[in-house]
Amino acid sequence: MSNNYSKSFPEDFTWGAAAAAYQIEGAWDEDGKGKSVWDAYCNEKGKIWDGDSGRVACDHYHRYSEDIEIMQAIGLQAYRLSVSWPRIMPEGKGAINTKGLEFYDRLIDELLEAGITPWVTLFHWDYPLTLDLQGGWLAEDSPKWFANYTEVVVDSLSDRVAHWITLNEPQCFVGLGHFVGCHAPGHRMGLAKALQIGHNALLAHGMATSIIRTQSKLQASVGWAPVGNSYVPATSNEQDRAAAIRGMEKVFPDSLWNNTWWGDPVVFGRYPEEGIEIYGDAMPKIGPDDFDIIQQPIDFYGCNVYTGIPCKAGDDGEPSEVKLPSGSPRTLFQWRMLPESIYWVSTFLHERYQLPLVITENGLSCHDWVCLDGKVHDSQRIDFMNRYLTQLHRAIEEGADIRGYFQWSIMDNFEWAEGYKHRFGLIHIDYETQARTMKDSAYWYKEIIQGNGTCI
Ligand code: NOJ
Repeated sequence: MSNNYSKSFPEDFTWGAAAAAYQIEGAWDEDGKGKSVWDAYCNEKGKIWDGDSGRVACDHYHRYSEDIEIMQAIGLQAYRLSVSWPRIMPEGKGAINTKGLEFYDRLIDELLEAGITPWVTLFHWDYPLTLDLQGGWLAEDSPKWFANYTEVVVDSLSDRVAHWITLNEPQCFVGLGHFVGCHAPGHRMGLAKALQIGHNALLAHGMATSIIRTQSKLQASVGWAPVGNSYVPATSNEQDRAAAIRGMEKVFPDSLWNNTWWGDPVVFGRYPEEGIEIYGDAMPKIGPDDFDIIQQPIDFYGCNVYTGIPCKAGDDGEPSEVKLPSGSPRTLFQWRMLPESIYWVSTFLHERYQLPLVITENGLSCHDWVCLDGKVHDSQRIDFMNRYLTQLHRAIEEGADIRGYFQWSIMDNFEWAEGYKHRFGLIHIDYETQARTMKDSAYWYKEIIQGNGTCI
C-alpha cells in the first residue's frame, strides 16, 4: 500500500491536533476542581457505554509533560486544548480555584517551550454542575456566567495565548445534551427550550468574543468550532450539486444539526428566515440588543467535519439522501468515510461567510491496538487522513481560504456516551498502564507536517 501524499499547502498553514479537557484530563476531583455535568452524568447507570467515565481518562492532568514531549516528537505546530470551567471555577461563578488555573499555566508554558502554539477552547461541554442546577444554559444569566468565566481565563492566559475558540459544537451540547438527552446533562427539554438554550449559547459566544478582543494582552485571533451537516452530491450533475449546497444551507424542522441556524447569527447578526418560519412558536425570546452582542467580528470560522450525507436532487430540488453501495467504508462509529464531505462543507462555509476557515476537528475512530511488534498499525487512519487532506487541498486550490487543520485527536480518549469504545488518537493509550504509543498515523502525520503536505 502506498501512503505517499504530495500536496503543497499554503506556506503559513497550521498543522495541529486537538483534545478536550474532560476527555483526557482525569483528576476529576483533584486540587479543588468542582463537578461538571459530565461527572454527574457518568454516575447515572446505563448512560455511558460499559459504565465508563472520564474520572481518570488519560490522566493528562498528571502526564501532560510526557504528552507534550510526544506532541513535539510528532512535530505538532499547534495543539487545541480546552479549559475545564469547573476546574478553575468550581461553582461555575464566584470563587476562583487557583490550583486549577495553575495547571493551565504550566500546560501553556510547556507547550510554548516545546514550540507548540496553544489554541484554547473555552467551552468543550464540561459545564459546571452547580450552574446546571441553577437553570444551566436555559437561565437568563447563563451568557453572563460564561462571560465572567471568560474574563478569568483571558486574564490568566492571554499573555501567552493568542488563539481562542469560544464554543465547541453548540449543535451537540444543545442538541444531544438538552434536546435528545443522550449527552450530559441529559435533559430532554423540547424544541422551544432547546432553541432558547442555543440562543443563550450564541449570546455567550458573542460576549466572550468581545471580552477576548478587548481584554487580551496579546493580539487575539478568535473563532468558534461548530459542526453541521455536510452534504455530498452523488453525481456531478448540476441539480445534485445544487441540492447538496441546499442541504448545507437548509434549516431542518426537527434537527439542530443545521449550519446556518448557528452560523448566520454569528456572522450576519440574524437567524435565517427559513428557520424563523419553520420553528414558529418555538422561536427563542430575542432581546433588542441580542444580535449586536452575538454578531462580533471573528477572525476565523472553525469547522468540525467527520462524515457526510450523500444526496441527489429530489423533484423539488431539495436534497434527498441516497444509499451508498452496501459495504461502503464506514468508521467504527458507523459514520460514512466520505472524504468529499470536507471539500463540500468547507467550500460552502467559505462562500457563505467569506471568512478564513480552520478545520478545528477531523478524524476517525477505529479498533486500534498494540500489535505483537509493539507498534500500532492504524493504516485505515492514514488512508482516511490522506483522502480527507486531498479533498481539503482541492477546496484550497479552488479558492477557499483555509488556514489550518486539527486532527481529532492527539490521543485516544473518553468518547462521551461511547466511553472508551472508540479510539480516535494519533497516540494510543493503554488505560490500564497509561502507556502511550505513537501510532503509525502519528509517524505519517509527522512527515506531512514536516513537508507541509508532502509525505513521500
Ligand atoms: C466532536 C467533539 O468535539 C469531540 O469531543 C468528539 O470526541 C469528536 N467529535 C468525535 O466524536
